[in-house]
Amino acid sequence: MIVDTDTGSDDAVALLLAAASGLGDIRAVTTVAGNVPVDIGTRNALISLQIAGRTDIPVHPGCARPLTRALSSAQHVHGQDGMGDIGLPEPAAACQKSHAVEALLAYPREHPGELTLVTLAPLTNVAAALICDPELFSRYRHVYCMAGAADLRGNISPTAEFNVWADPEAARIVAQAATPETVTWVGWDASRKDAVMTPTDQQRLQQLNTPMATFAHRINRTVADWARDVTGLAGYDLPDPAAMAVALKPELITELESAHVDISVAADTRGQMIIDRRVTAPAPNLTLVRRISETGFKELLFATVATPVVEAAPAGAGAAS
Ligand code: BDR
Ligand code: CA
Repeated sequence: MIVDTDTGSDDAVALLLAAASGLGDIRAVTTVAGNVPVDIGTRNALISLQIAGRTDIPVHPGCARPLTRALSSAQHVHGQDGMGDIGLPEPAAACQKSHAVEALLAYPREHPGELTLVTLAPLTNVAAALICDPELFSRYRHVYCMAGAADLRGNISPTAEFNVWADPEAARIVAQAATPETVTWVGWDASRKDAVMTPTDQQRLQQLNTPMATFAHRINRTVADWARDVTGLAGYDLPDPAAMAVALKPELITELESAHVDISVAADTRGQMIIDRRVTAPAPNLTLVRRISETGFKELLFATVATPVVEAAPAGAGAAS
């Protein structure tokens, strides 16, 4: 698996799932500007992998701003540092020198058809990679994106979801290159309905008292305030962990549809999904996950963060001599 992320607090929980659930095998993480500027997101990805005991996973820093627009971050949601401003120490590992876009192009060429790409962020890196290699999606086993709001109930605007809104031109490039067989979007609608951490869930997380559970609980502090004040959910939602859970365990999906989707780049509907469900619609280009099993998702989350962290051997160690 390759994970593209603008690591803020929910991306961090998704990285724990990918690195420590035992269901995934992350080969690399690529970062992009979104929730926070890309250097901060890269730092947060390194910290999250360290908490999961996986300092061996390479992290490639990527695009510092959307394709055509200035960066509008979500630091008002995830904190100035993207991680709830709880004063996390600097990571032990350093990031790679090679760029995220190069990594997104290179890994599937080395392992054609074997890797799953999971995107948790604005689609800038992926769109740039697609411009270099229009056949990119066919080189991955599958591509899962935390993207969009198929019921048009937005979180960053009345009708748009943040990752698509932040770089709608990139999202449009991705949608236009996608087919339902190659690309699945897990939207904010599924997260809002099936991945909300209620006060009882938050208490359970806190009481687990393991390093990963405590980390997951503390970094989502500012998102909890924002969810209460803005989206009005019964707790904070975990969109990126929901998308990661689907990628790791597709049997969690309880409702999906294939549809023809375009993305609005107009000022007043920026980032809104334009879904054509008419009989006359063009052929579907995306699979949309509309609901997941809330119980199955939360079981996976609690089981993962409850485990003690086992440090992975540094890259190269243990190789036969
Ligand atoms: C998405 O936006 C970000 O704030 C989250 O990390 C997630 O990827 C949800 O709309
Ligand atoms: Ca994200």
